[in-house]
Amino acid sequence: MIIYAVGTTVKKEDAINIIPNKGENFTRLVRDYNEDIFEKTGRQPLAFVRTFGCQQNVSDSEKLKGMLFAMGYAMAQGPETADLILFNTCAVRENAEERVLGNVGALKSLKESNRGLITGLCGCMMQQPHIAAKVHAHYPYVDLIFGTHALGRFPELLWRRLGGDKRIVDLEEACSDPLREDIPVSREGNIGAWVPVMYGCDNFCTYCVVPFVRGRERSRELCVILDEVKGLVEKGFKEIHLLGQNVNSYGRTLEPGVSFSELLRRINAIPGDFRIRFMTSHPKDCTHELIDTIAECEKVCRHIHLPVQSGSDRILSAMNRRYTAEKYLSLIDYARGKIKGVAFTSDIIVGFPGETDADFAETLSLIERVRYHSLYTFIYSKREGTKAALMEDPATREDKRRRFDMLTQIQRRIGQDIYDSLVGTTCRVLAEGPGKTGQGMLAGRTEQGVIVEFEGDEALVGRFAEVSVTKAMLWAVAGKAVTGGSLF
Ligand code: 5AD
Ligand code: SF4
Repeated sequence: MIIYAVGTTVKKEDAINIIPNKGENFTRLVRDYNEDIFEKTGRQPLAFVRTFGCQQNVSDSEKLKGMLFAMGYAMAQGPETADLILFNTCAVRENAEERVLGNVGALKSLKESNRGLITGLCGCMMQQPHIAAKVHAHYPYVDLIFGTHALGRFPELLWRRLGGDKRIVDLEEACSDPLREDIPVSREGNIGAWVPVMYGCDNFCTYCVVPFVRGRERSRELCVILDEVKGLVEKGFKEIHLLGQNVNSYGRTLEPGVSFSELLRRINAIPGDFRIRFMTSHPKDCTHELIDTIAECEKVCRHIHLPVQSGSDRILSAMNRRYTAEKYLSLIDYARGKIKGVAFTSDIIVGFPGETDADFAETLSLIERVRYHSLYTFIYSKREGTKAALMEDPATREDKRRRFDMLTQIQRRIGQDIYDSLVGTTCRVLAEGPGKTGQGMLAGRTEQGVIVEFEGDEALVGRFAEVSVTKAMLWAVAGKAVTGGSLF
């Protein structure tokens, strides 16, 4: 393993090769250090973790927090009161990176007013050497720089920093981390839980940086996942959200191999009243067997997030998605035939290099045909190191913006029609907390992922309620609890 503890630039020759002492428990070493501080000051050190990006990062931050608690930290309410600030970063699009860098500047003044403050940037953005080097060169007040693969080494890196090393940069190459199951996880609340089932991605869609920053696909052992879910259900969690860049290829790296369908069936068989969600499914690996399984498993939500990215076969091929619009639509039709009331959501990239108005028109006709409940829409963002970054991209920003606006407008109408059709129906909602639309309102989601604001007793939070839908809004539906509160 190479950990760089360096001066001003990230250079190979600056590296000091640290072979970690396997017998050394760095979590305990940091905790001992923090206990000394507690004895001297009467105060537990405080940490603040800010998460940028996707649910995988949210899940990684739960591990960072789990490790921090184990090392004797408590969580700060905000960065101002913290002794340690970590930004867990996202690299998937340029604006995510800009948002991170836009927030890093604030660390400087915080550090000036608190000399003992330790700052760190970790996650996907730092796994890109050119970004790690940039942060290293331009943000001297960042003490720890480490990528996704160094997550489990965080206690060691922190211990070295506390021990006096000036800056710690862990640039371990992608794919080298073993699947670690010994990292503690600190979850927020006890209603919904993120459970990673696999890490990394082998698909290399030509626009995507994820395979570079998260490495090759690795699946967690079936029995480990089952034990984790059983534990969560026993603790009262009501929604288990299985996570992976491509959950459909779960189990391919295991010996003996296991399919995602098998995983769903085994989780579905765990006793208790809870829901199962999963994300993300790649259409090329979404089989009829999987759709049949979703239909058969009563705990699996009737919602499939199935990113299509584009409706044009030419663009899908340039994206290396390995399906056609026709194949995608036939999957949707098969699922609609098998899973009554199934909802689809999707991701779409507008303005991929070479996309013409004619290609874009095919995307529009696909979304009119599928009628998604909702869409995550993105303007293509060039990512260094990807194949698409080398492709000709003649469309102007204005062209792309115009297409993007058209897409969001059309989807707004489709979503509105779907929400309107829910008025007068009764749906089962998992109440997640207070609503946004006023006093006494609660918010939750249906199986299909529709947000529901409803009048109901606060005691319903964390429980399933039947809600009669009276109104459709732009982003949600509203109604009133008619039954509910049973703990099931
Ligand atoms: N530009 C725009 N959108 C992207 N996504 C991934 N990479 C890029 C990129 N370079 C989108 C895809 C993916 C979602 C998580 O982010 O739609 O499904
Ligand atoms: Fe990126 Fe494609 Fe892998 Fe999804 S499947 S993470 S879009 S490379």
